[in-house]
Amino acid sequence: MRGMSDDLFDLAGKVAIVTGSSRGIGRAIATRYAQRGARVVISSRDAASCETVAQELRGAGGDAVAIAAHVGKRVQLEALVAQTVAHFGGIDILVANAAVNPYYGPLAGITDDAWDRIMNSNVRSTLWLANLAFPRMAERGGGAALFLSSIAGLSGTNVIGAYAVSKTALIGLARSLAVEWGPHGIRVNCIAPGIVKTDFARALWDNPEIAEPTIRRTALRRLADPDDIAGAAIYLAARAGAFVTGQTIVIDGGVTIDTGM
Ligand SMILES: NC(=O)c1ccc[n+]([C@@H]2O[C@H](COP(=O)([O-])OP(=O)(O)OC[C@H]3O[C@@H](n4cnc5c(N)ncnc54)[C@H](OP(=O)(O)O)[C@@H]3O)[C@@H](O)[C@H]2O)c1
Repeated sequence: MRGMSDDLFDLAGKVAIVTGSSRGIGRAIATRYAQRGARVVISSRDAASCETVAQELRGAGGDAVAIAAHVGKRVQLEALVAQTVAHFGGIDILVANAAVNPYYGPLAGITDDAWDRIMNSNVRSTLWLANLAFPRMAERGGGAALFLSSIAGLSGTNVIGAYAVSKTALIGLARSLAVEWGPHGIRVNCIAPGIVKTDFARALWDNPEIAEPTIRRTALRRLADPDDIAGAAIYLAARAGAFVTGQTIVIDGGVTIDTGM
């Protein structure tokens, strides 16, 4: 066993890029990864808030660096991957977590611009990141990628339809990339959360007219905190998840399994 940790959830020495990790779910994942020994790249559009999180993780004994990048801009993702390799020597784990939703309303009224922004920042950016990072993972013998989908991607919606389509697309993207890169030892999975109490979903959980009926329909009778997502993110990145690929894990407290009957 020498040289190999006996802990299936150990991430010691693994290099993990987590996009959108200055706040919310991404921050929780990056923090828990650092606690498991991973060397993490904190990334978002805002360099200062990334640096604050990276400093906090280093202060707690972790290894973290801040590298700002807008996921909708390919050149910035190229720099994110190149700077990660320059700083840590390679990449083992990619968490494509940052996403946007600039449009609330029926699909009948969406502008081409809003549609393109959603598809660009949520879907094409994830393909860009995968195509940039996976060759770096493959040269280290493999790795793990994790895309943040949503339960919105599993059903229809009157209000966030374009966002939902982007989250469905990530489930398909994970499957095809898993088939393509499996022979190189790279696993690709999604997590589909229900409502998580972050800034992103504040309009949902801060509004009792939406939050209260949702909580009543949720088997566990509450909404999620960011840490509710982090455990599965460790599992999917670590040796514990070594034979899991192309899958989507729903973390929603049971809201999608209740027929309401
Ligand atoms: N919260 C929920 O209820 C929920 C449910 C299902 C799925 N999700 C998914 O979970 C993921 C994370 O959401 P969250 O709730 O944790 O959001 P959040 O708390 O608002 O955090 C979003 C993070 O992404 C960064 N970000 C936003 N736009 C970016 C861009 N264009 N480029 C790079 N970074 C960007 C933000 O920092 P800056 O603004 O400084 O860039 C921040 O670090 C998203 O994919 C979301 O779709 C969330």
